Amino acid sequence: MTRRIRKAVFPVAGLGTRFLPATKANPKEMLPVVDKPLVQYAAEEAVKAGIETLVFVTGRNKRSIPDHFDKAYELETELQAKGKEERLRLVREILPNGVAAVYIRQSEALGLGHAVLCAEPIVGDEPFAVILADDLIDDPDGGGCMAQMVRQYDEQVASILGVQRVPESHTDRYGIVDSEPVSERLSRMHGIVEKPDPTVAPSTLGVVGRYILNPAIFNKLRRTRPGAGGEIQLTDAIAALMADEPVFAYEFRGTRYDCGDKLGYLQATVEYALKHPELGAQFREYLEGLEY
Ligand code: G1P
Repeated sequence: MTRRIRKAVFPVAGLGTRFLPATKANPKEMLPVVDKPLVQYAAEEAVKAGIETLVFVTGRNKRSIPDHFDKAYELETELQAKGKEERLRLVREILPNGVAAVYIRQSEALGLGHAVLCAEPIVGDEPFAVILADDLIDDPDGGGCMAQMVRQYDEQVASILGVQRVPESHTDRYGIVDSEPVSERLSRMHGIVEKPDPTVAPSTLGVVGRYILNPAIFNKLRRTRPGAGGEIQLTDAIAALMADEPVFAYEFRGTRYDCGDKLGYLQATVEYALKHPELGAQFREYLEGLEY
């Protein structure tokens, strides 16, 4: 079994109901933050972490995702003819050379755990990453959250979950971990619960859409019954995995935006626009002049 993290799974079959009506016919993962869709930020983070195969678990209304990562001959010819080299480069670099995109259809929306299990035929018997594209993570060092996690994996050779502190009143929005510190950012997990009420939450460390999992998770997922919200939860399979092997929680460096939520999405838009090389200065001036 290879220990390199070569594949990342992107569960993109969710209905995105928190963002209706924008997500009625378009996937939430295609919502742009400034000029790039969320799913492209997620793919770039994976590529920066050395991942070579992007496995998208898609559903209905998701055709624009494969189209986005596909070659667009007409568009490229047009941009070339008009001498728009910079735009041509932007379009061509969406999927870098040497990186493959694979699509699997999740025919029933049975939950995140079920979506990950759908990727088993492509992932096979090796450790892999899972990235939830609506959790956008900005790493100030530029390497990306997943690259940080891969480094942790290389040291521990054990499943690792990306976590951050969440407000106590928000524990019912996350998988919450019970863990014991090993080093400054790393802790060894003893338990994990999906969306607990603040009165029973084991901590305020919440899982935010980044996982590196050993392939033993697939057997656990096969045996996982519907849990919170009637869905097959990845969290429950991870709880089962912990009985057999160590699992760690890693407090990554960086800011996370919940872009499945309207307010989080707006915050990401404003902050990414302020940092944008072409727009930043003008946008800052605009905000400073705004009366409200
Ligand atoms: C999923 C997971 C949850 C995790 C969250 C992070 O929930 O089930 O454990 O904390 O993603 O965004 P969802 O937000 O899809 O309901």
